[in-house]
Amino acid sequence: MNVLVVGGGGREHAICAALKRSPRVDQLYCAPGNAGIAQIATCVDIQATDIAAMVAFVKANPIDFVMVAPDDPLALGMVDAMEAAGIRAFGPRANAAIIESSKVFSKGLMEKYGIPTAKYRVFTDMDQAIAYIRAEGAPIVVKADGLALGKGVVVATDVDMAVDAVKSMMQDKKFGDSGSRVVIEECMTGPEVTVLAFTDGKTIVPMLSSQDHKRAYNDDKGPNTGGMGAFCPSPKYTPEIAQTCMETIFRPTIAAMNKEGRPFKGVIYFGLMLTPDGPRVVEYNARFGDPETQPILSMLETDLLDIFEAVVDEKLDTVDIRWKSGAACCVVMASGGYPTAYKKGYEITGLDRVPEDIIVYHAGTKRAGDGKILTNGGRVLGVTALGSDLPAAIARAYAGVSCIDFTDAHYRTDIGKK
Ligand code: AMP
Ligand code: GLY
Repeated sequence: MNVLVVGGGGREHAICAALKRSPRVDQLYCAPGNAGIAQIATCVDIQATDIAAMVAFVKANPIDFVMVAPDDPLALGMVDAMEAAGIRAFGPRANAAIIESSKVFSKGLMEKYGIPTAKYRVFTDMDQAIAYIRAEGAPIVVKADGLALGKGVVVATDVDMAVDAVKSMMQDKKFGDSGSRVVIEECMTGPEVTVLAFTDGKTIVPMLSSQDHKRAYNDDKGPNTGGMGAFCPSPKYTPEIAQTCMETIFRPTIAAMNKEGRPFKGVIYFGLMLTPDGPRVVEYNARFGDPETQPILSMLETDLLDIFEAVVDEKLDTVDIRWKSGAACCVVMASGGYPTAYKKGYEITGLDRVPEDIIVYHAGTKRAGDGKILTNGGRVLGVTALGSDLPAAIARAYAGVSCIDFTDAHYRTDIGKK
């Protein structure tokens, strides 16, 4: 089968690498891809959000199956458009992807169906939002309603910080229309765990639990980023907690989406907080997480194409999904200055010195005319390693990082250490 993966980050590199292991994948395409993906797939220069061009490309080429990875084309209806053109596509339709693209929708869903989450209020009026913050006090959490590349959330430790966040979203339009409605939430406490799950709308199969590191600097300091590193499985996600999540969160969410006439097929991402009152949902995403996917799919034993097809065909109950034992860790190497201003175009050296057992997933990279690999984004590489246990996987990932260099490279030195 010939398969097209839509997207071009570290997550898509990990998806392509897992698909490449399938004996049933013949030609693998990725749009737009990056310099690392180009080593295992044919990269096609179409932006991930360009639905018309993507459908036209698939129709003009012998492609049998499309996997849409990023949030924005899903929210824009790329899977719907592929299906309308008679193309088999993996990922939720737009009416289900809304579980990520609107926090107002997802909070309303959880409230309606009794799925545990933080208490919240929605505001379209800035003065009312500010009055509510002053009445509730801090700590308090301010979120832009729409997609904001994982950066539209401010966990405010004092009232002024929360008020500033509301102003930057609603008045200064820092996230454009995404901030015209804001959600203000109770601040929850406890360790965070990410659980990604495959679902065909009937069966839901969680992957290995994982943990992201969203803040830019060590000790969870600095601004929120798309994710600076991740590991799996999470030692905090015990079998008992997994059972509770299945009963109180995972199955109820899938059932709720069906009841709403928005059946969810694809990968659903549960951002969870293990609070003193039990596991609660921080956020849903409608897709694989980045960088969680890099360690998770590195540990997948089952053929990923078999899983993707079973999801599309609503036969997920017939697939036995197996994982390697041990642990995996991914350390993100980012451009200095990320997540705010940073420069691109620096040469990346040392990639050829990385030992073979360490996987370097590319995110923001591109190949120059002379064959050099250059930085081309905020998150540049996701250096990923497996180990018999978490400390071994972490040590191996950092051994990989130490081989690689580019100007102003920035990475956290504490991934998985907490
Ligand atoms: P989100 O984009 O919704 O995942 O939020 C980004 C990060 O903000 C999360 O990973 C949490 O660390 C934090 N966060 C979001 N909502 C809350 C909340 N209600 N209470 C405490 N922390 C939160
Ligand atoms: N790592 C967080 C996300 O993918 O949204």
